[in-house]
Amino acid sequence: MGTGEGGVLAGLRPLPTLTVACEEWLATVPAAVATLRPLGLRVVVAAGSDDNTAIVRRRPGLPFADGSFDVVLNRHEAFDALDVHRITAPGGRFLTQQVGSDEERSVRALLGLDVQQLNWDLDVACRQLRSAGWHLAGMAEERPPAYFTDVAALVGYMRTTPWCFEDVLCTADPWSTNGPLLEALRDVHDRCREGPVEAVAHRFWVSAQRA
Ligand SMILES: C[S@@+](CC[C@H](N)C(=O)[O-])C[C@H]1O[C@@H](n2cnc3c(N)ncnc32)[C@H](O)[C@@H]1O
Repeated sequence: MGTGEGGVLAGLRPLPTLTVACEEWLATVPAAVATLRPLGLRVVVAAGSDDNTAIVRRRPGLPFADGSFDVVLNRHEAFDALDVHRITAPGGRFLTQQVGSDEERSVRALLGLDVQQLNWDLDVACRQLRSAGWHLAGMAEERPPAYFTDVAALVGYMRTTPWCFEDVLCTADPWSTNGPLLEALRDVHDRCREGPVEAVAHRFWVSAQRA
């Protein structure tokens, strides 16, 4: 699920004969195809799941038949626990690593921005998986510190995760017109003169099995 440019999947070789990568973001599809197709891996372009903290679910399920896969992998991509359960064969496994909401909160706090995302952590994920009928086989969660050594690194982070900053990146040229954002970035720039600025890298993983 959400293979991105396909590098993580390619790095897991050897892979089963039928291995399919799913990607939604059209901008990254050519890179995924270039990475995976020469390895004999299939790329399916399809809408991913609604965000795990979305109140209203609007998106269709993944375009795969019931029980299609023995293993479903997901790194840093939203998932619908019921839909993944549907496409997984009985006895099959779902393994996911996720970025938890404390990361977005900590980086937004650096910019004086309030919290916008609902809680997304191991506890919430386990509740979603259990209520979809999954048996949980393993899990862990960590919140190590993450450091921005300069303001360029922070801007780079914002550009790589625009969905965490939609409220400030929604204008045509936020970097030169959004006064409060510029003020906050200037403040981070000044603080980085004293040393790296700390945020949180919130990660958790869950391994689940379908009965
Ligand atoms: C965070 S990426 C993770 C990709 C891959 N699973 C990995 O572990 O490296 C999850 C999904 O977000 C998509 N994505 C990345 N940048 C994006 C952007 N700026 N706008 C929309 N989707 C984006 C990726 O193409 C991918 O499908």
